[in-house]
Amino acid sequence: MRKIPLCIPYTGQEEKDAVCEVIDSGWYAHGPKNHEFEERFAEYLGVKHAFTMNSCTSALHLAVEGLGITGEVILPSFTFVASANAVITGGAKPVFADISYDTCNIDPASIERMISPQTEAIMPVHYGGQSADMTAIMEIAEKHKLIVIEDSAETIGGTHNGRLTGTFDIGCFSFYPTKNLTTGEGGMLTTNDDQLALKVKALLAHGIDKSTYEREDKEKAWYRSASRIGYNFRMSNILAAIGVEQLKKLPEMNRMRRDLATRLTEALAEIPEVEAPVERPENKHVYQMYTVRIKEGLDRDEFVRSLNNKGIGASIHFFPPVHYMPPYSGQDFRRDNLSVTEEVIREIITLPMYPQMAADDLAYMVDSIRNTVSELR
Ligand SMILES: Cc1ncc(COP(=O)(O)O)c(C=O)c1O
Repeated sequence: MRKIPLCIPYTGQEEKDAVCEVIDSGWYAHGPKNHEFEERFAEYLGVKHAFTMNSCTSALHLAVEGLGITGEVILPSFTFVASANAVITGGAKPVFADISYDTCNIDPASIERMISPQTEAIMPVHYGGQSADMTAIMEIAEKHKLIVIEDSAETIGGTHNGRLTGTFDIGCFSFYPTKNLTTGEGGMLTTNDDQLALKVKALLAHGIDKSTYEREDKEKAWYRSASRIGYNFRMSNILAAIGVEQLKKLPEMNRMRRDLATRLTEALAEIPEVEAPVERPENKHVYQMYTVRIKEGLDRDEFVRSLNNKGIGASIHFFPPVHYMPPYSGQDFRRDNLSVTEEVIREIITLPMYPQMAADDLAYMVDSIRNTVSELR
C-alpha cells in the first residue's frame, strides 16, 4: 500500500555536508554556526536580535520571564499545550480566548472580553502557517499597553499585510521536523528590544552574558561568571548548521507548500463534504499544515481512521484543546466562552503536507478522501 506520511523534512546534500563540516571542525556545542544562523535569521526577518534555542517552548518561556511578566497572558486554548505551559513556567498565568472560525486564530473580540487589570500580554498563535489578525491585535495591545508575544512556531515566512509573522513584537519560532524549516529540535526568539535581548542571551546560557564562542579569543576565555540565574536552553552547533542551510531553502520550500495547497484546494472543491482551508486576503499562508473541515454530519474520527487505513498520515491539530487537559481544566485559569473552539475541534483534520509531495501521491490522497466520503455517507 502507498504510504503518505503527515510530513517529510525537505533536506538534501547541503544539510549533510554542513553537518559533516561541523563534525570535522570538532565544535559540537553552541558555537560559530549558531551565530551565523542567528545573524541570517535576524536579517531575513529584518529584526535586530535573534537567539537560537533548543525549542520554541524555551523561547516562549524566556519571552515571558525575560519581560518580567507575572500577571495574565491571553492566548487561545486551540493550540499546542507548549504555548500555555511556557506561560506558566515563564512565571505568568494563562487566560484562554476563543478563535475565529475561518482561520482558527485567536479572535480579537475574545481578547477584548478577557482583558482584566492583571493582563500584561497577548500571545497570538499563528495557526498552521497563517498569521493571526495582527492589525486588530496590535491595536488592542496599544490601547491597553500590553506586550505581544507571537507564538510563530507554526508560521515561518507567513505574512500579514506584507509583514512577516514574528516581527510585530517578540517572535518565537519552532524548528521541529513538521515545521516550515527544521533542525530536528530547535527554536528561535527574535526581538528589537535591546534590554530583552541582553537578558534572553544570558538566561538561555546559565545566566552567563557572553557565549563560549565569544569568549574564545578574549584574554580571559575561562572567565564565565553568571549575571543572573539561568538555564541551558542552547542549540548545538550541529543543529545550527542544518538551520543555516534550511533558511536558504525557506522561500523555495514555502513556495512549494503553497503550490501544493493550491492544487489540493482545487481538487477538494469537487468534494462538498470536505472544506478546504481559508486564506484571508491580507495574509500569505505558508501551509505548515493543510487543515480541512469535515462536514455534512460525517464522523471526523472515523474519517481520520479511514484515511490512516489507506496509508494517509492524516492527524488532528489540535485535540484535545488545552482547556480540556487536566492541569488546565479546573477553575484556576479564566477562559472566555470557547464555542468556536468547541465547534472546530469536532470538524478539523490535518492532511499530509510537505514541499516535495509527488503529484501521484497528491492524486492518491484526493482519491482516498473521495472514497472515504462514500464509505462514511
Ligand atoms: C503552536 C505551537 N507552539 C509551540 C510549539 C512548541 O515548539 P517546540 O517543539 O519547538 O518546543 C509548537 C510545536 O509543536 C506549536 O505548534
